[in-house]
Amino acid sequence: MVVAKISFLLISFLLMLRGYSGSGSSSDNFVEHVALFIFGDSLYDPGNNNYINTTPEFQANFWPYGISYFDPPSGRFSDGRLIPDFIAEYAGLPIIPTYLDPRNSEFVYGANFASGGAGALVETHAGFVVDLKTQLQYFGDLEKQFRQKLGDSKTDQLLSDAVYLFSCGGNDYLAPVGNNESILYPYTHEQYIRMVIGNMTDVFKGIHEKGGRKIGITTVSPLACWPSIRAGRPGNTCNGELDIITSMHNQQLSKKLVELEKELEGFMYSLFDLNTEVSNRMKNPSKYGFKIGDSACCGSGPFGCIYSCGGKRGVTEFDLCDNISDYFFFDSNHNTEVAARQFAELFWDGDSTVTAPYDLKTLFLHQGKRSPTYRKEDL
Ligand SMILES: *[C@@H]1O[C@H](CO)[C@@H](O)[C@H](O)[C@H]1NC(C)=O
Ligand SMILES: *[C@@H]1O[C@H](CO)[C@@H](O)[C@H](O)[C@H]1NC(C)=O
Ligand SMILES: *[C@@H]1O[C@H](CO)[C@@H](O)[C@H](O)[C@H]1NC(C)=O
Repeated sequence: MVVAKISFLLISFLLMLRGYSGSGSSSDNFVEHVALFIFGDSLYDPGNNNYINTTPEFQANFWPYGISYFDPPSGRFSDGRLIPDFIAEYAGLPIIPTYLDPRNSEFVYGANFASGGAGALVETHAGFVVDLKTQLQYFGDLEKQFRQKLGDSKTDQLLSDAVYLFSCGGNDYLAPVGNNESILYPYTHEQYIRMVIGNMTDVFKGIHEKGGRKIGITTVSPLACWPSIRAGRPGNTCNGELDIITSMHNQQLSKKLVELEKELEGFMYSLFDLNTEVSNRMKNPSKYGFKIGDSACCGSGPFGCIYSCGGKRGVTEFDLCDNISDYFFFDSNHNTEVAARQFAELFWDGDSTVTAPYDLKTLFLHQGKRSPTYRKEDL
């Protein structure tokens, strides 16, 4: 904790220095911060799904969601803050505004486009979520607004300095399982994964075309043993096939990122191994300060596996645990705020076995052509 605080002060100082020393002409003073744009699924959704036509299955804007931090509930699928909320804090930014919330019109610090249930494939929960491609279109709309308001040179600088955070893929593998398709029919695992990664790559390239350079992304979680998955299975066992698929996805993802680094000019990334970190906490909760690693705090059924937290998703009964911070899972699909904070710290400046080749702190400090590249070790 102390370490995290010190690094927060350090970066605030460095970001400040950078604003004051100016990076070229004095008209560049505008860019005193590095913006954060957020894409993906419920791991990052701050409430975009409150503003689309969907069902409570894909929403969390009701009690007891948000109970540890937000009043009224924001729509985050958690008792409190999510990974991007902490990342924004460490980077000296305000909470990044929810793009679809009509009360928000100022996005100079960034925007959050993430939508609970979304995948890389448009087919994933189609009609109920904002898929990744549409999220990129919204980002394109925002780019046009920036160009009108700020002019091209400031917009170029804003977009190339910015960090682009992604959480994506999990729902592409969960959705077919949820529909009891056995399981990716008519595709082989390899074909399906290639499609998911291919569509994610298209979006990374779309960001790069608009001038974005720095991408932060997580591996897909070990969904096979999610309480919600175990619920639907005989003897509440984990889903072995899903385990194989997510492992393959994660291998392909890191391969693809290495390729993109060579292929796309100036492309930098930070890959956080969420899969391993989730898995460690589910297996050995007490090592990370949790009492319970495999059951949800809020929900119903054995180990809270039924996704009924809040009572608005068809099943009205649910229990809420007494002490949320004892739990790794808040509901049967989503972790607690305490867990999100731990993940954010590791994503921000965890060592290279967890976050590589750069951590997010390094991406935030990097200033493209206007300064040398800092490898993590140099900081
Ligand atoms: C799921 O698929 C299996 C095998 O195809 C079938 O036996 C089972 O009844 C299905 N379950 C549901 C809930 O549709
Ligand atoms: C993206 O996904 C669609 C299905 O939604 C698929 O037809 C297409 O081939 C994928 N694109 C890539 C580049 O893999
Ligand atoms: C909740 O759990 C945390 C961590 O186990 C503990 O520090 C705290 O005292 C507990 N609070 C209550 C009200 O039991």
